[in-house]
Amino acid sequence: MAKLNINGSLRDVQADADTPLLWVIREQVGLTGTKYGCGVAQCGACSVHINDAVQRSCSIRLGDVQESDRIVTIEGLSATSSHPVQKAWAALDVPQCGYCQSGQIMAAAALLKENPKPTDADIDAAMTNICRCGTYQRIRAAVHLAAQTTRSGSVEPASGKSTL
Ligand code: FES
Ligand code: FES
Repeated sequence: MAKLNINGSLRDVQADADTPLLWVIREQVGLTGTKYGCGVAQCGACSVHINDAVQRSCSIRLGDVQESDRIVTIEGLSATSSHPVQKAWAALDVPQCGYCQSGQIMAAAALLKENPKPTDADIDAAMTNICRCGTYQRIRAAVHLAAQTTRSGSVEPASGKSTL
């Protein structure tokens, strides 16, 4: 038995210490917004925040996480899906199939916390998540929109609609 602090709640979980955190989150805690893609820390589909830093949960063992570590999944990013990154993603219709997008959003939220005004190069360097649908241009635009709207307090793109 272990205790995990997920999205602000302490949860009892029962799994081997070697179990990837991703499977504990999905199968024991029942939070399925965090996705499995590659299982080897390459694609970023499984991204969560641990103590505010983005981490690939497929490659973290349950035994490596302490009760005091704050884990946030896509479900906990905002109670009302109103995080600036989520709003920018919706405003610019970023997702295609959507499979990679919770990981992309978690990566973008962590980036903006560290760097509130990233350049394209900053975004490309920080966000190495793979999107098989090729939404990279929209992701970049949405990160800029989230950064801009976080500063201005408004979440509408200039035209009110996506132009991508
Ligand atoms: S599933 Fe974790 S990085 Fe791909
Ligand atoms: S939106 Fe389909 S994999 Fe990214």
